[in-house]
Amino acid sequence: MRRLPPRTLRGQLTAGLVTLLALACLAVGTVTALALRGFLTGRLDEQLSSSGGRFAASLEHEARPDADNRPDTRGQAESTFGARLLKGTVTQAAVIDDANDRLVRLTAGDRRALTGLPADGSGHSVHLSALGAYRLAAVQGDDRDILITGLPLHPLEETVHRLEAVETVLFGAALTVTGIAGALWVRASLRPLQRVTARAAEVAGLPLASGEIAMPGPLPDTDPRTEVGQVGTALNHMLGHVENALTRRQASEERLRHFAADASHELRTPVANIRGHAELALRHDGPVPAEVRHALVRIDAESQRMTHLVDDLLLLARLDAGRPLGHEPVDLTLLILNAMDDARAAGPGHHWLLDLPEEAVVVSGDAHRLQQAIGNLLANARIHTPPGTRVTITLTTDQAGVRVSVSDDGPGIPAELQPEVFGRFVRADHARSRSTGSTGLGLAIVHAVITAHGGTATVTSGPGHTVFRLTLPG
Ligand SMILES: Nc1ncnc2c1ncn2[C@@H]1O[C@H](COP(=O)(O)OP(=O)(O)O)[C@@H](O)[C@H]1O
Ligand SMILES: [Mg+2]
Repeated sequence: MRRLPPRTLRGQLTAGLVTLLALACLAVGTVTALALRGFLTGRLDEQLSSSGGRFAASLEHEARPDADNRPDTRGQAESTFGARLLKGTVTQAAVIDDANDRLVRLTAGDRRALTGLPADGSGHSVHLSALGAYRLAAVQGDDRDILITGLPLHPLEETVHRLEAVETVLFGAALTVTGIAGALWVRASLRPLQRVTARAAEVAGLPLASGEIAMPGPLPDTDPRTEVGQVGTALNHMLGHVENALTRRQASEERLRHFAADASHELRTPVANIRGHAELALRHDGPVPAEVRHALVRIDAESQRMTHLVDDLLLLARLDAGRPLGHEPVDLTLLILNAMDDARAAGPGHHWLLDLPEEAVVVSGDAHRLQQAIGNLLANARIHTPPGTRVTITLTTDQAGVRVSVSDDGPGIPAELQPEVFGRFVRADHARSRSTGSTGLGLAIVHAVITAHGGTATVTSGPGHTVFRLTLPG
């Protein structure tokens, strides 16, 4: 599995810190190792040049193992290598071993390396197969031969390796400590950012679209010198604006509700007056032209319609404003029986069916409003279906509460209307509204009344099957 780089800012900062430190350690380690190697090599070269080829000069051109004439090893360090070259060939090669010299077997490669050395006294690192890595310097001898002196490189290598090992341990420890401390430090410095995020998430979760909103208080992290403080300040400003806008919206909604309530209330009296005068004029005994009588009949009918409309609007405005409803015990069974009687009288062409439990069902609420809600459902089942339709009203109770359903086998509610059928002034056929007295407020009132009682109103509808279901807490 591929390891992904860390995504959080915390992870990235910590990883960045550790990577930078690792690079710095690598650079320091490499430079110190190179510098130490250079310094030690310089020292070796100095030693080589100060020995001046003495040991090599003391070697004879011809090997004489019996040798009473021993080479001069005095003052020479152990493992010092010496060789003599004459006319480009190695004549003698030995190494000091326990303060004695020992002849060294050279391979063809070694000889080539030795003869290739420039005779200027400068140091060169050469690998000899019998002895390992050596630092060699060649000088011109007295009798036109070349004297080569060498010192082993392995003590130098050992020192450098030792340094590298110490550095590895030291840097490893430093990286670990930095990693842990850095993670903690980054976490501590990002904590205010977490507060900002949490607050933003909290506000994002608020139901800003509806009702009165309690906005959370301002953030404490507002130091303008820090980035987090700047974000905090900006967020506080934004929260302030949002709160302001919400308060204003709340106020304007309130005003609108008041206006609707006041307007419908104010309209009631003039409408009642118009109606009264129309009735009075219709009762006039004298001869009245037929057109005038017709006009008076229309005025009477329209003002009646308007009275209903104004009453419905006033009721909705009052429910919107959260006016408290009545809280008396309501006998739902009786209420449904009464509503059914009214419906039978109004729609003798429909089949009205009842399905009620044996015992009376009593809920707590506003009898008048509940009667209105159920009456609206029955009126819809009568008005929006053809005669002959079967309408059934069912009352059931369970632990959750009381359920009332009004179903019919009429044509159903058009599918595009269903999602918003409980909305205001929503109706299928605007053109027919005058003849049927349809306003589109009936179901809005059902919804508002049932919701105000702490219940729910839903609908499912298709051709031949429409069911309105009301639930009320028991
Ligand atoms: N039982 C029903 N069958 C078919 N359509 C219905 C039924 N009840 C309601 N509707 C549709 O829903 C619309 C909204 O109903 P409602 O809010 O009571 O307004 P209104 O009855 O004044 O038109 C109606 O206009 C009608 O199109
Ligand atoms: Mg209706």
